[in-house]
Amino acid sequence: MDALQVIGDTPFDMVISDVRMPQMDGFELCRRIKENRETSLLPVVLVTALGRKEDRVRGIENGCDDFFTKPFDRLELQARISSLGRLKRYNEDLEHAEEVLKALAYSVEARDVTTGDHCQRLVEMGTLFANYLELDQKDIEGISKAGILHDIGKISVPDAVLLKPGPLNDEEWEIMKAHPVKGEALLKPLRTVQKVLPIVRHHHERWDGRGYPDGLAEEEIPFCARVMALIDVYDALRIKRPYKPALSHQEASKIIIGGAGQHFDPELVKAFTAVESGFAEIHDRRKRTKGGKN
Ligand SMILES: [Fe+2]
Ligand SMILES: [Fe+2]
Repeated sequence: MDALQVIGDTPFDMVISDVRMPQMDGFELCRRIKENRETSLLPVVLVTALGRKEDRVRGIENGCDDFFTKPFDRLELQARISSLGRLKRYNEDLEHAEEVLKALAYSVEARDVTTGDHCQRLVEMGTLFANYLELDQKDIEGISKAGILHDIGKISVPDAVLLKPGPLNDEEWEIMKAHPVKGEALLKPLRTVQKVLPIVRHHHERWDGRGYPDGLAEEEIPFCARVMALIDVYDALRIKRPYKPALSHQEASKIIIGGAGQHFDPELVKAFTAVESGFAEIHDRRKRTKGGKN
């Protein structure tokens, strides 16, 4: 426990730990480090006199990055430690790049004050929905990240179009409709958001094939994008815009249910009816903390 405390308080580059220790062994220490989001990128090397294969497997299962068996060669140890250090710095750079993109997405959202904290609500609703649907951890994470990043392509939409109080003309609508493709292109170079790309590109597709940008229909639309499409519309219905009032949960729910098989995947609409009270709760709570600005 003491080690975990120190690791939490100090920015180490690496942890080298014995396996056999009193109280918590090295496997447990490693697992706890990797489970914690704050320390999950910290390389962990286990050093032990045990040469057994089962121990190596257990070490790997608990997320350890390398495993040295005593006695070890000093030069080899140094070389492997410096390569783990390089890997850590590379992962940190990727993480920083992702944070920059999220900050960019939030700044796009902030341009349109009428949407409130739409992205944050989508993160919460997406996580709730994805857990209910029992999606795997990668998809849950993808939907959650997409909650923030899905409209990042709106960075290329000028204020005159994005903030226009009335309906868009044909030319303006074409500019607006380009945002999913622009968003995908912006995110594409970053390896850590690859799961998010299909959601960003396809979050405005419709089950009946009348959406954009590709006019995909039914199961051609990536599943997580269908999830995002539903929660994105639910949230848009619930907020007041210059050209429309905020709908109550009951009114928004009726529109979502009415859109089954047209706008939305009918199976997802069924699932929506099981979790919609959670959506309403997220919406109402965030509205309260924001002083009812929606
Ligand atoms: Fe969008
Ligand atoms: Fe959105």
